Amino acid sequence: MAGYISDDTRKVTTHRLIEMKQRGEKISMLTSYDYTMAQIVDGAGMDVILVGDSASNVMAGNVTTLPMTLDQMIYHAKSVVRGVKRAMVVVDMPFGSYQGNELEGLASAIRIMKESHADALKLEGGEEIIGTVNRILSAGIPIMGHLGLMPQSINKYGTYTVRAKDEAEADKLVRDAHLLEEAGCFGIVLEKVPAVLAERVANELTIPVIGIGAGGGVDGQVLVIQDMLGMNNGFRPRFLRRYADLHTIMTDAISHYISDVKNLDFPNEKEQY
Ligand code: KIV
Repeated sequence: MAGYISDDTRKVTTHRLIEMKQRGEKISMLTSYDYTMAQIVDGAGMDVILVGDSASNVMAGNVTTLPMTLDQMIYHAKSVVRGVKRAMVVVDMPFGSYQGNELEGLASAIRIMKESHADALKLEGGEEIIGTVNRILSAGIPIMGHLGLMPQSINKYGTYTVRAKDEAEADKLVRDAHLLEEAGCFGIVLEKVPAVLAERVANELTIPVIGIGAGGGVDGQVLVIQDMLGMNNGFRPRFLRRYADLHTIMTDAISHYISDVKNLDFPNEKEQY
């Protein structure tokens, strides 16, 4: 199987991500929410690890990302940071921790950075949150934007379908992307937008554009780790490539363990003291 293990062990920084865009090297990004997984993902050579508020779905079993709290994000972020040596660790600011006002957003951002020791934050939105983005950036905290499908706004959309298919929404997305770049964000995630639009944004911006369901014309890709490892059998959107069938592998291993215990096969003589 083809692999990509970088022999460059230097810590990935915002500056290095921008250099990667400049030389046309695609950026790899994947979520993690705990120490063990983060160690594996970092050891495999991932450029960016996102402590996504998708933890709400895949770790806590919620239907949306909205219930995630600041304390819960900090807990996940601290666990991930302890497992990572090289990758840049980006943490999602959870719903309700930055939309209120600029100072509330700044206070939440400072708590995440101070308590988790992560490298950067990700916020959903453009023009609506630009004051908060400026405030957090002015405190020296790197920010990644997130446009297109913004799961924290799911109650406004009412559906997880592709965003920015009409001209007005596409125009706003392009304007927001420029605003975020001008403010000083080091990158932007584009979620579930037409590939042509995503490629246009990536071409117009000098900062990296990382896509999820946004086609191959962007500067990098991000996926939720449980999805790409095939742990969630029920979630199979078109954009998702499953690199393993861990649901089957884990179920088989666990069933095997159950039958070994029931049949008095585990533990055997060598597996006891
Ligand atoms: O929370 C998350 O995992 C994300 C990715 C889907 C980009 O924001």
